[in-house]
Amino acid sequence: MKILVIGGTNFIGPHVIRYLASSGHQIAAFHRGKTDANLPNQVEHILGDRHHLHQYQPQIQQFAPDVVLDMIPYILSDAQMVIETIHSICDRVVAISSQDVYRARDIIWGIETNLLDSTPLKEDSPLRSHYYPYKDGAPLGLPPDYEKILVEQTYLNAPNLQATILRLPMVYGANDPLHRFAAYLQRMDRGRKAIILEENLAHWRSSYGYVENVAWGIALAVEHQIKRDSLSDSFLNRIFNISEATPFTEMERLELLGKLAGWKGEVIAVNKDYLPESWQLPFNMQQDWVTDSNRIRQELGYQEPIDRSEAMKRTLEWERLYPPVDISQSASAIALLEETVEDAILKSM
Ligand SMILES: NC(=O)c1ccc[n+]([C@@H]2O[C@H](COP(=O)([O-])OP(=O)(O)OC[C@H]3O[C@@H](n4cnc5c(N)ncnc54)[C@H](OP(=O)(O)O)[C@@H]3O)[C@@H](O)[C@H]2O)c1
Repeated sequence: MKILVIGGTNFIGPHVIRYLASSGHQIAAFHRGKTDANLPNQVEHILGDRHHLHQYQPQIQQFAPDVVLDMIPYILSDAQMVIETIHSICDRVVAISSQDVYRARDIIWGIETNLLDSTPLKEDSPLRSHYYPYKDGAPLGLPPDYEKILVEQTYLNAPNLQATILRLPMVYGANDPLHRFAAYLQRMDRGRKAIILEENLAHWRSSYGYVENVAWGIALAVEHQIKRDSLSDSFLNRIFNISEATPFTEMERLELLGKLAGWKGEVIAVNKDYLPESWQLPFNMQQDWVTDSNRIRQELGYQEPIDRSEAMKRTLEWERLYPPVDISQSASAIALLEETVEDAILKSM
């Protein structure tokens, strides 16, 4: 099969490309040429900016993909331009979305109040009704009009296109731009006796996925030929969550990380009444953020190739080698108290 990957050279993408290339597929990666992954030699590169994708239609036509894997659709016009560019070339897209489409995300962020959504979130669970979740400031330079819901709808509603949408969890592993575990690990490696977590956060359950495992799920979806619906002769669209089968609480994740890191300390959950008033996590941790990955397991036979302990071990080895320049950039930094505050609380216990 010929696969055009939009993106593919940074964090998750290279693993997907390596899986697909090792199965004998022919791959072209469309990207700007700013990031350079160590991809197999046979992978073609079409260099350009996706915001002008239509200008590269001749190269795409020449490559003649059977499927387009859109790794980086963030805004409505990203999907629109792909559809316009490939309409006479290819009728299948696999697009990468996120668990941030679910309304549960807005409950956690306090945008929706007085309700809790039941978890695990299935593919038909309620979606956010407030668009543009990062309009007031986005991580990693995401555009303010980032909106995966609009991306999904645009792909799913395109005529004569079969769209597969993959909703990803929080992804960890080597090259994670968010260094999800770095702040926790740094505390452990400094030999701290304990790490205090606010009680609600300690018991908050959320969906994660190891980069190589998530990539395996993406590769399976790309390879999977969904049959035409014989009754309507329209294409069948499908949405799949990808996430670990048994989600951890934050405390369980931290405890496993500590064990793998050889840390001798303990994780302590503390009621927020014992924490400084000035320290407030701006999230509603009563709402778990767990997705149900049964559909992709049952329909595509998805199973993680790497078990969770090994995945976390590989991640912490990478985090030790390549810590972020500024530890406050690590996604786990927000969960931690200042060390002096933590020391004072530990002393008083
Ligand atoms: N990380 C998570 O926890 C998480 C969670 C949920 C969903 N996701 C989703 O996963 C996807 C991102 O995965 P990833 O970072 O691993 O992607 P990736 O495909 O590995 O890397 C990003 C790619 O995009 C290319 N790129 C960036 N801007 C471009 C542009 N304007 N035109 C053309 N190419 C461009 C980069 O190459 P150049 O720099 O060379 O252009 C690079 O190849 C996104 O859709 C994200 O929303 C991630």
